[in-house]
Amino acid sequence: MQLNIFEDNDALSREAASEIVNTIQQKSNAVICLASGSTPILTYKYVVEIIQRDKIDIADVTFIGLDEWLGIPPDNEGSCHYFFQQHLFQHLRFSASNIYMFRAMAERPISECERMDKVIRHLNGIDLMLVGIGMNGHIGFNEPGVPFNKYSHIVDLDETTVSVGQKYFKEATVLKQGITLGLQHLMETGKVLLLANGEKKALIIKQTIEGEISNKVPASIMRQHPNGIIMLDKEAASLLSH
Ligand code: GLP
Repeated sequence: MQLNIFEDNDALSREAASEIVNTIQQKSNAVICLASGSTPILTYKYVVEIIQRDKIDIADVTFIGLDEWLGIPPDNEGSCHYFFQQHLFQHLRFSASNIYMFRAMAERPISECERMDKVIRHLNGIDLMLVGIGMNGHIGFNEPGVPFNKYSHIVDLDETTVSVGQKYFKEATVLKQGITLGLQHLMETGKVLLLANGEKKALIIKQTIEGEISNKVPASIMRQHPNGIIMLDKEAASLLSH
């Protein structure tokens, strides 16, 4: 694992954006898995800017959504679907047939897990994953206690996730379960970027990097990834010992 600390969120986001764009430029049919959330918003703005400016063809790129709130419809502004529509799809020409996201309203959510696992297997895995970190150390909806060897699964959300998650919604919303790629997907991905910014992430980042590698802090799995990069701004790195 590599650790990169940036002066501020702007520098961090520019670097993360160029990692995404470089992956696409090196492999026109790259498989990219992205997280929603506040953290990568500026990164995606830069990705859009570069792709538009340099007229990069993304017709063959496959997009995989990392996770979704179960039972929250795609037109709800707090859903991951809505997020990606706002920040990526309305600006960039992905092929609709190359976009895979968990359908939160599916009658049998477990089939969504099977569908996603199959898609990823058929694509021969994910080339680049960009993830954030929850206040409790989760990645996607891999909550504390999750076995490291899981593929897609349905999760009962942690209390922290339910309360922090309210920030994405206009009004108080009942959040019970999530659907997410698993940490086994992360370990099988070619390259993984974990982004964190701001002082509020400093403590969980310290636990992730300096605590034991354990599913109590799921993000600590990043330290076992041969091509994992933790990218922080100075504030998120402020409690690290070295
Ligand atoms: C959310 C999502 C994650 C996201 C994380 C951090 O609950 N399930 O995919 O990366 O928590 O979110 P934020 O970037 O808003 O801090």
